[in-house]
Amino acid sequence: MKLCFRLATGVLAMLLSTTHAVCAPPAPTPSRSPIIIAHRGASGYRPEHTLAAYELAIQQGADFIEPDLVITKDGVLVARHENEISQTTDVARHAEFADRKVTKKLGSRTVTGWFTEDFTLAELKSLRAVERLPKLRPKSAEYDGKYEIPTFDEVLKLARQQSATVGREIGVYPETKHPSHFEALGLPLEGRLVENLNAQGYTEPEAPVFIQSFEPSSLKKMRPMTRVRLIQLLGDQPPAELTDTETNTSRPGWLNRAVLDRIKEYADGIGPDKSLIVARDRNGNLLEPTSVVTDAHAAGLLVHPYTFRNENTFLPVSLRRGDKTAPGFGSSHGDYAAEYQLFFGLGVDGLFSDFPDAAIASRKEFLRTNPAR
Ligand code: G3P
Ligand code: CA
Repeated sequence: MKLCFRLATGVLAMLLSTTHAVCAPPAPTPSRSPIIIAHRGASGYRPEHTLAAYELAIQQGADFIEPDLVITKDGVLVARHENEISQTTDVARHAEFADRKVTKKLGSRTVTGWFTEDFTLAELKSLRAVERLPKLRPKSAEYDGKYEIPTFDEVLKLARQQSATVGREIGVYPETKHPSHFEALGLPLEGRLVENLNAQGYTEPEAPVFIQSFEPSSLKKMRPMTRVRLIQLLGDQPPAELTDTETNTSRPGWLNRAVLDRIKEYADGIGPDKSLIVARDRNGNLLEPTSVVTDAHAAGLLVHPYTFRNENTFLPVSLRRGDKTAPGFGSSHGDYAAEYQLFFGLGVDGLFSDFPDAAIASRKEFLRTNPAR
């Protein structure tokens, strides 16, 4: 416990570029080592949400693989980050689907492209995945055109098969994407998600699964359907359903104990944007940690922040490495290991990473230097 706190403080002192005193919150004592969740698979190395990306993540040691879930016209859950698929598939090159390009309202956004709900599974299976960030991740883009869009059922089966192959339990961490949108279309995600899990034997709180969503209503809907663990995702703005004057949710610092207690009524943990734990100033410098980890633990909630990435582009200024005027600086890897040490030291129970190998190596180092954990 003391070692954890000392490490967190030491890493913070190194990373904070501000001159004021470092006041790290007391490190909580999670019961086991933090889990590594492969964010969209090993998405730093392969086009995201493909069986190849999930398989590589498992080979690299990930504890959980993360499929974001959307749905087809014929009601099949598939793994994609958005229902609009032009950034992650070759759909635009398929002349037979040219007339499916449409403009839709998605929440408050207007989006133009091709949407999974307008395709049957058979049609989606004729497409191939491409790298979302080809300039940043050109090595991954070399795998463009090789892989299909997997169904959720295929992802679950992969986890089962790979658990037997590698001799350890591989968990799954599905997310309902745009659940209100799909509900309005008459294609609700939640019942199908739970049915898929039940069919593969994921029914109990101890099962190696977490269901996550940004929409509280989606999680609340599933609470009576299943006993598996639920995680409330949180971005930098509070979900409207958690906002009211009583909890002061309109002000900075909205993720307070009152909001966390409210989340605890239906969920087992939170998946916060990592900036809710350690924010950055407008220049990309790290600020002092908030008390979110401590407060969430006090409320009885797990804490799994997102998303950890190796590239300079995504790192705080103090961890970027190399000549910032050189071409390729953004895609070069910085001192990502220090960022992992910071968050492990603050007591998170797990984290989402695009680079599971880096996260696993960092966790190993953290546990080696913090044996009391
Ligand atoms: O689910 C955790 C994290 O993946 C949330 O962000 O947008 O990458 O799904 P997103
Ligand atoms: Ca996700």
